[in-house]
Amino acid sequence: MKNYKIALLPGDGIGPEVIAEAVKAVAVAGAKYAFNVEWVPYPFGAAHYARTGETLPDSAVAEMAETNAMLLGAVGDPSVKPGILERGILLKLRFHFDQYINLRPARSFENVPCPVPLPKGVRIDSVVVRENTEDFYMGIGAVGKTGETGETGESGISDFSFEAERGLYKLSGRVSAKFEPDCAAALQIGALTRPGVERVTRYAFDLAKKRGEKEVILASKANAVPFLYGFLDEETKRAAEAYPDITLKIQNVDALCYHLARNPTGHGVILCPNLFGDIVSDLLSALTGGLGLGAGGNIGSGLSMFEPVHGSAPDIAGTGKANPLAAILCAAMMLDHIGESAAARAIDAAVASCLAEGDASVRPVELGGSALCRAVGDHVVEIME
Ligand code: NAD
Ligand code: IPM
Ligand code: MN
Repeated sequence: MKNYKIALLPGDGIGPEVIAEAVKAVAVAGAKYAFNVEWVPYPFGAAHYARTGETLPDSAVAEMAETNAMLLGAVGDPSVKPGILERGILLKLRFHFDQYINLRPARSFENVPCPVPLPKGVRIDSVVVRENTEDFYMGIGAVGKTGETGETGESGISDFSFEAERGLYKLSGRVSAKFEPDCAAALQIGALTRPGVERVTRYAFDLAKKRGEKEVILASKANAVPFLYGFLDEETKRAAEAYPDITLKIQNVDALCYHLARNPTGHGVILCPNLFGDIVSDLLSALTGGLGLGAGGNIGSGLSMFEPVHGSAPDIAGTGKANPLAAILCAAMMLDHIGESAAARAIDAAVASCLAEGDASVRPVELGGSALCRAVGDHVVEIME
């Protein structure tokens, strides 16, 4: 009997609610497919932060490195300033473990209405391959108020030094810029590198090949942000030369969203820089029926981490209205990643048939049914058994 150690970080809001259902599905899959999961739970999130002032200690990160994978609910809470938990926990993990791919499949399901009617017999079957370590997520920048002085004592905020560490490199430097007249202002810097673009491009093209597709779409915006996304276009083209049988289609991200909203089918692999990937994946989840269907994985060569596309949804936390299917599908992605593909397929199939039944009593509230979070999880597990 195989034994896996899985780090479990339920987090905030609906995180613990949906993760409980994912854990149930994994337990049933383990019993059926002869493996055992030893969960290693972590309390990090808003309550832990309020109690201890700690976001994610390095000692926990070192422990997590010894696990086979991680399952995460969501972090972030209205009681905490935006960014503290998100950057301090989620992004810290993505960067520390160099999880350079954020893989977010978007599939429509039988009997689940999509907000945009689909052509008959056609399903949404796209996957966002989001670069997960660079772009405007570098965390480099500063904010200042009028009359404040920077590090050199000069007026203005735009005088600061920075450091960022990634798997591929360490970036450090200083910025010295001046607004005249002096005014309250913010500066934030994005970065892309050839090795960073190259590795995510290879991943996207290999995936398209595996899916038997002839095209990869790159969501770009070189027309307005030429340094960063002009470079992205050129470097992606360069990396794509290794795949002569697959076409690279560069699309401005605004037009891509327009086309997705008008016809969400037929888009295949969508390669995105970090920020656009975040936005496009929420849009695609909505187009398949809801955020509660969007699963994802943060994948690297070390520890990989699986988490839904959605956040902690404080507006419905504690009401039972959370749809746990995204988290359950994340558990399936995680099992597939660690080599338990049959178990993963069984979970996927149970989710699909739970939805296909079309019965309001087992349909998540998000999708127009009356089943609360636990009841949805119970039903998926029942189907698996
Ligand atoms: P959100 O994804 O939490 O919620 C957006 C909307 O979708 C809300 O109306 C919510 O009720 C609904 N929704 C989300 N998941 C759902 C589900 N499973 N079932 C039914 N409805 C669902 O985005 P937000 O409101 O921008 O963010 C809330 C908090 O979550 C913020 O603190 C944010 O930073 C954080 N966040 C965390 C993650 C993460 O940890 N992976 C991801 C996104 C947002
Ligand atoms: C996501 C989230 C995160 C992101 C936030 C919480 C930092 O929106 O995983 O999609 O922007 O990557
Ligand atoms: Mn997001």
